Amino acid sequence: MQNFTFYNPTRILFGAGRIANLAREVPSGARVLITYGGGSIVRAGTLAEVRNALKDFTLFEFAGIEPNPSYETLMQAVELARRERIDFLLAVGGGSVIDGTKFIAAAIPFTGDPWNILAKRARIVSAVPFGSVLTLPATGSEMNNGAVITRRASNDKLAFMHDLLFPRFSVLDPTKTYTLPPRQVANGVVDAFVHVIEQYLTYPADAKVQDRFAEGLLLTLIEDGPKALQEPENYAVRGTLMWTATLALNGLIGAGVPNDWATHMLGHELTVLHGLDHAQTLAVVLPAMLHERRSEKRDKLLQYAERVWELREGDEEERIDQAIACTRQFFESLHVPTRLSDYGIKKDAIPALVAQLKRHGMVALGEHNNFSLDGSRRVYELAA
Ligand code: NZQ
Ligand code: ZN
Repeated sequence: MQNFTFYNPTRILFGAGRIANLAREVPSGARVLITYGGGSIVRAGTLAEVRNALKDFTLFEFAGIEPNPSYETLMQAVELARRERIDFLLAVGGGSVIDGTKFIAAAIPFTGDPWNILAKRARIVSAVPFGSVLTLPATGSEMNNGAVITRRASNDKLAFMHDLLFPRFSVLDPTKTYTLPPRQVANGVVDAFVHVIEQYLTYPADAKVQDRFAEGLLLTLIEDGPKALQEPENYAVRGTLMWTATLALNGLIGAGVPNDWATHMLGHELTVLHGLDHAQTLAVVLPAMLHERRSEKRDKLLQYAERVWELREGDEEERIDQAIACTRQFFESLHVPTRLSDYGIKKDAIPALVAQLKRHGMVALGEHNNFSLDGSRRVYELAA
């Protein structure tokens, strides 16, 4: 096992009805800015529930954080928060709202141009504290310190992280996910699945616990992902998926093992240039990525084939092929297409995607920091 430091201070309030406990978690006397997206929480009644739980606080609201949250929109929230002297933020929504709120939290006290937090990795020295109420299990943002922000004007989708950006708390109420459209349920399962893969399917590192934990999460997603689509109000299934997605990216399984993340980096450019949902990009890139890098990932691919997909027949190359095919079939079974052509993207779009990777410095990716632009181009070609 590699050396690691594990730190995660986020308090999790799991279960039905836990929004009622919000007041205990927010510092008394706080001026709270509730941030949310396009209105799903209004229609579902979640906003009313949150307002009621926090009725003794001074509340403000900022709506309109879009999927793949934009710097342009978030800066409006930063202005509001500065003007109203907000001292606590509460994100109510999916990964985009939580990520956006992390940026707002860091940008409020930031001196200089807050875009530099992303573009120049400018140092963050303080952040407004925040919590979250999660409505879409997928990203793990509710229990990690990272965020991904898009600047529409310049076609940049960039990530940043900081220990000040762990949520103070996150409410995980599975019943709040009953209203999710099937596309977002499937997206969540695929995103969580690929988060596990990015931290598991690298090379062996004598990390038995991380491996078996990762395999458990993958098996759980394979088992309960389809059930969530079939039985949207199955509490046990929704709860399992919610906790699985959180554990998939809260630092636990990635500690002490090599991490990849190349699939995510290639995916971000597909979202920026072609508007695919985050999980759709992963469903397209991952099978091609595994195929392209099958020799460097050989040992773990064989372990994945056997322990996750129970593939024991045939020679090693055949088992690897089958494992990749099973992965693709799993995404397709959730109705998330896995080819660029399924989204109307033609091969002639690939040079621009590769140019974006180059512009963003994504030239030595993966667990060995050596996955080059040539490799990325081949992956996009294989994904066509
Ligand atoms: O905006 P509203 O109206 O709330 O609707 C949202 C949105 O349209 C809707 N939705 C959310 N909860 C709902 C609901 N609709 C009905 N009922 C509910 N309970 O779902 C749509 C998508 O929401 P979004 O937050 O964009 O989805 P997701 O959670 O998949 O987040 C994706 C974003 O997270 C980033 C992605 O890049 C992308 O920008 N990621 C963040 C990570 C992190 N912080 O660690 C890691 C991930 O790899 C990922 O990159
Ligand atoms: Zn992701």
